[in-house]
Amino acid sequence: MRIYVPLDAAAKALGADDVAAEIRREADARGLDIEIVRNGTRGMVWLEPLVEIEDEAGRRGYGPLTTDDVPALLDGTLETLGDVEKIPFFARQTRLTFARCGLIDPLNIEDYEAHGGLAGLRRAIGMSSEDIVEEVKTSGLRGRGGAGFPTGVKWETVLHAKGAQKYIICNADEGDSGTFADRMIMEGDPFVLIEGMVIAGLGVGATKGYIYSRSEYPDANAIFAKAIDIALERGLVGPDVLGSGRRFDLELRIGAGAYVCGEETSLMNSLEGKRGVVRAKPPLPAYRGLFNRPTVVNNLLSLATIPAIFEKGAEHYADFGLGRSKGTMPIQIAGNVKYGGLFETAFGMPLGELINEIAGGTASGRPVKAVQVGGPLGAYMPREKFDTPFGYEEFDGQGGLIGHAGIVVFDDTVDMLQMARFAMEFCAIESCGKCTPCRIGAVRGVETIDRIAHGDPDAPALLADLCETMRGGSLCALGGFTPFPVMSALTHFPEDFSAAREAAE
Ligand code: NAI
Ligand code: SF4
Repeated sequence: MRIYVPLDAAAKALGADDVAAEIRREADARGLDIEIVRNGTRGMVWLEPLVEIEDEAGRRGYGPLTTDDVPALLDGTLETLGDVEKIPFFARQTRLTFARCGLIDPLNIEDYEAHGGLAGLRRAIGMSSEDIVEEVKTSGLRGRGGAGFPTGVKWETVLHAKGAQKYIICNADEGDSGTFADRMIMEGDPFVLIEGMVIAGLGVGATKGYIYSRSEYPDANAIFAKAIDIALERGLVGPDVLGSGRRFDLELRIGAGAYVCGEETSLMNSLEGKRGVVRAKPPLPAYRGLFNRPTVVNNLLSLATIPAIFEKGAEHYADFGLGRSKGTMPIQIAGNVKYGGLFETAFGMPLGELINEIAGGTASGRPVKAVQVGGPLGAYMPREKFDTPFGYEEFDGQGGLIGHAGIVVFDDTVDMLQMARFAMEFCAIESCGKCTPCRIGAVRGVETIDRIAHGDPDAPALLADLCETMRGGSLCALGGFTPFPVMSALTHFPEDFSAAREAAE
């Protein structure tokens, strides 16, 4: 009998390690012959620790499990969830990027191959660089960090850029509120990211790749470091990738935890051992990136999607989605919801369906008031915008952004003036200090919102003017996008701003 107990950080936070230890102790005491596999998470966080048993009868789940449940689990008397892939939250997904996450042993390369792994790389090895880039362009894949720039066009630019040395950088500095998809891949299916980076290297002619992760992800970093060692041992990376005669070396680097290091140019400064300060663009990293060499900087989710595109074909991938938002998006549902977790689906599902049906509404049972999509720089969407389909252009058209697809839900007890203040405060703390609208503007923003709270009638207009300056005059998205949460709060929830004013009067 094989028993799967997730090693995912969220599952561990909910007691998975204790459950695994108790299963081992109880099984040994009973003389039972069991194998414990520490898998990634299935992404249904409310069921963690979600343990699965696999035997002749198939694979079935139990959760959320406590150590007290272990005797009944081994007796076979504990109530089961059945096949976890039939749980509606899971069954409604289209898992392409996350096809294996939670299913396999993350550090078992045979398990990885048995579930479709390396098929994409093997195909790419037989293709020219131009054909690899063309395949990515045909897939319609766009940057999953939020900007949505076509990945194939970025690769094409680097392929044609002049430079004896080129680099691939995976941006795994996942700092947005309510996001955890990058971490889930690093913990639950690390070889998919390695495979995607190797294909990127073959596509643009880069022989070296860096994964830039964060110190807040110790479990993910430890698992990923082991995965790199295994990949090197098995020839997936190194001087002769899968016997192709092509070289691709890989290195994991861990940042110290500045939000702005998720911005590609400050990330490169950090990788070069400098302070994480934003560089002006142009030059684009595609021409002069890391160490001034042509560099692909892709979000982890973009790179982790590449193997599926090469395994199943670009047309297959492009068949999913809506308009120019092709394929699937791993949406991360968090905040005040009944069912939080990772939900990968084709672009196009309306926001309201995601909140009310998939997430089951609020955990508190109170009405939803606002939903922040796209991290701390994303707009607050009111219920009136719940029919917005999940897509780059569709959110842009509503004054929002999908960002890295993190959704944080708030019920009607939230004070939107405080949320607007928090956005400015966050920007003030995380600003790299390079440009004035952000460095000074965010501090003035906090003060101006405090003036609104104290009833200053001139302050709302001043805040709108300040946001306009920050939006137009900031060098990067941190200062430039902070006006989104601030102005969306002011525009869609004016009552929270006037209530504060009236209370002050
Ligand atoms: P950007 O629009 O300047 O660039 C997007 C990407 O395309 C960059 O990698 C850029 O180098 C590349 N690019 C642009 N033109 C190109 C060309 N002609 N050839 C080759 N490459 C080209 O956006 P930026 O500043 O990189 O990111 C802003 C976005 O980041 C925002 O839309 C926001 O949604 C998102 N964001 C994501 C966060 C996260 O934690 N994931 C946090 C904050 C913002
Ligand atoms: Fe730095 Fe803020 Fe300017 Fe970005 S907008 S470069 S974080 S000061």
